[in-house]
Amino acid sequence: MTSVSVSLADRSYDINIVAGGLDRADALIGRFARRGRFVIVTDENLAATQLPRLQAALDRGGIAHDAIVLPPGEGTKSWAVLERLTDGLLERGVERSDNVVALGGGVIGDLVGFAASIVKRGCGFVQVPTTLLAQVDSSVGGKTAINARAGKNLIGAFHQPVHVLIDPTTLDTLPAREAAAGYAEVVKYGLIDDPDFFAWCEANGPALLAGDAEARTTAIERSVRAKAAIVAADERETTGTRALLNLGHTFGHALEAETGFSDRLLHGEAVAAGMALAFRFSAAQGLCPAEDAARVAAHLRSAGLPASAAEAHVTADGETLVAHMMHDKKMEGGRLPFLLARGIGRTFLAKDVDLAEVAAFLDGERVRRGSTLGHL
Ligand code: NAD
Ligand code: GLY
Repeated sequence: MTSVSVSLADRSYDINIVAGGLDRADALIGRFARRGRFVIVTDENLAATQLPRLQAALDRGGIAHDAIVLPPGEGTKSWAVLERLTDGLLERGVERSDNVVALGGGVIGDLVGFAASIVKRGCGFVQVPTTLLAQVDSSVGGKTAINARAGKNLIGAFHQPVHVLIDPTTLDTLPAREAAAGYAEVVKYGLIDDPDFFAWCEANGPALLAGDAEARTTAIERSVRAKAAIVAADERETTGTRALLNLGHTFGHALEAETGFSDRLLHGEAVAAGMALAFRFSAAQGLCPAEDAARVAAHLRSAGLPASAAEAHVTADGETLVAHMMHDKKMEGGRLPFLLARGIGRTFLAKDVDLAEVAAFLDGERVRRGSTLGHL
């Protein structure tokens, strides 16, 4: 077992990474079943794959449990499903001292975390993430949210889990496309401030995506260590440190908005294309060596991820994409902070980016599509 702590005074918690941990959930998370029982919240795909493992382990440990099974997909982060979930938790008598279990990807984790932040003015929750994206990013750090008509993740709260149990073997049933999307968030940690980890990804990414146990565990551990440190330094994203985790998200958000936040482009795929765009924009601004931008794009492509708007099947012009960016919740006084790079592992927050230059850059990418872009 590998343990990583998130140090946040009285909201501190541990992240335990244990291959096969779901089958030992009685021993590993049983202490969080305050009254000897858990309400587990999951989705239909997990009900058919991983939920029985968790239920069997709790049965073995004599821990009572009940499951609320929700539809899978981004649409579940909605007011309608939140109401259904909070009603379900109240019907089951959840109290403030209880800890609800979120078994699933980022959708379930974000929704359950938000429900836990408001039921009876706040109860606890345990994250048991089952996608690579959730294991390396969304289960850690306490950002919880649902989507609003005006945009994604606009209604939410910071509410830290009491514990995170990561079992990498749950990834055995994850579809390959979802695994690749989660891998984009792994690569992100190397690009932010750890060039050695990016080089590790170049060498070990293929094994990780093929299901190699050691590569998976190393990637998860290095990612959550990086995230735990950033969250401990800037829990509420007020100093700029946590904002580094948004690398690729501003460009990616525009691509997601253009594809209707749908399965046409998964969040991790949008982040991949967004990171490649952020590096190429940085190179175009003379901030970053063009070779670094090319290396980033090549690695993302080798993982089956898009490295441009065109590869994400987005054909909109620069003005349209920048208009989507203006709805980003990170807008500050009419300006949009961007994560740019001086090189691999040298990401920084730029607050003075001219959106007209961003639009012109994106138009230039369209023109170059099919010519030099393929080699960048
Ligand atoms: P997801 O939760 O929709 O899961 C992807 C798909 O995989 C779903 O169909 C799900 O049912 C299925 N699935 C999950 N685990 C499985 C398993 N082990 N076996 C088989 N199928 C499985 O998607 P995601 O990529 O995990 O999360 C995306 C969400 O996370 C977005 O809403 C995004 O906004 C959010 N997010 C939040 C944070 C944060 O800090 N809170 C960070 C990044 C992303
Ligand atoms: N995934 C971005 C953050 O947790 O801040």
